[in-house]
Amino acid sequence: MAEANAVRVGLLGFGTIGSNVYRVIEQEHDAILDLTGIDLRVAHIVEKDFSRAGVDAPAELFTDDFKRVLDDPAVSIVVELIGGTDWAFTFVEAALRGGRDVVTANKQLLANRGAGLFELAAQLGRQIRFEASVGGAIPVIKVMREGMIAADLHTVYGIVNGTTNYILTALYRGEGDYAETLKKAQELGYAEADPTADVGGGDAAAKMAILASIAFRTRVTMADVTYEGIQDVTLDDVQYAKDFGFVVKLIGAARLVDGRVNVRVHPALVPEGHLLASINGSYNAVYLRGHTIDEIMLTGPGAGGPPTATAVVSDIMNIVGTDSAGFLQNCSCRRDLDRFPDGEMRSAFFTRFKVEDRAGVLAQIASIFGDHDVSIESMIQKGQGDEAELMVITHPTVERGFFAAIEKVAALSCVKSRPATIRVL
Ligand code: HSE
Repeated sequence: MAEANAVRVGLLGFGTIGSNVYRVIEQEHDAILDLTGIDLRVAHIVEKDFSRAGVDAPAELFTDDFKRVLDDPAVSIVVELIGGTDWAFTFVEAALRGGRDVVTANKQLLANRGAGLFELAAQLGRQIRFEASVGGAIPVIKVMREGMIAADLHTVYGIVNGTTNYILTALYRGEGDYAETLKKAQELGYAEADPTADVGGGDAAAKMAILASIAFRTRVTMADVTYEGIQDVTLDDVQYAKDFGFVVKLIGAARLVDGRVNVRVHPALVPEGHLLASINGSYNAVYLRGHTIDEIMLTGPGAGGPPTATAVVSDIMNIVGTDSAGFLQNCSCRRDLDRFPDGEMRSAFFTRFKVEDRAGVLAQIASIFGDHDVSIESMIQKGQGDEAELMVITHPTVERGFFAAIEKVAALSCVKSRPATIRVL
């Protein structure tokens, strides 16, 4: 065994992730020491809420003053787990300027303000590691940066929000409704402090910006990502999609199309036989396609304290075990690429709407679709009379044309409800 070598960490934030990072470091201390010779300990916990001081960690570790971390020369790594983009930015910047390497799980910070921080870290010869920012325990950042360095990636599909996948899985299995499953996801520590970020797609959008930046080696920010959440997906949508042989998932899609970048998050119908259809509950998956690899999918627990803490501790050990001047550190976004507009993307669609149940209705609708070059793959009618509802699945089509057709369909007097639309993967 190598000689014991002390590494001291300053922990910012003691919520779901922070408290689990502390616990994992304590639990795994002897195994890490045995394996690596590193004596890893948390030296300070910066937290405003002291209610767990002395209960979940010794009271003397707690402080509400970040300066105590910076003033301790024994601390070489700062772990930022407070979330948000303001204080987190200030603390990370101060830590880097104070000569510390940084580990963060903060996807919003990186997707909104990452460029400046990575640039600063590179100037100062420091590291920012962020494995826990995407995919919980799945080592997706490490695999993409190292294992996929020669993969020439052009497509990343992700199920990267555990909360929404947990809700959609419950709807598919008929195990609960939207509100009660969201509440359960919050109790299990999957959801963000404000779950709007989960159900509204913002959490997944930040994660897809990070994945796209790595995959395409260009800086993709939150502002580049178009996103929708699952708030408008109903139990009926999920069950009707099931009748057609599809599972509804919140899909992140990052694609390099003719040298231009398109990154989006939206609900999608995934064919039951597709690899991504089998990802259930709070599990996440990242599905990669590259010119040299065909396809690779990584999957595992994507949310919650213990899985995410595992990724944080692995980042700490990677910093300790690597040269800070190495090529894997910090930013590899060296390319300037244009954006590929959403409207020009091609997708197949599922749409459903209530209609008058009489002769000639189908012909009017089909003619509008035909005029916009939208080809229908299958169509069924459920119910009769006042309850008649049409469900249509299209072939892949240019999105601008599809949405123009939908507006015209919605305006027909025979159409009695606003068409709901979900893309088909
Ligand atoms: N709220 C996130 C999720 C946690 O549900 O996936 C992991 O970032």
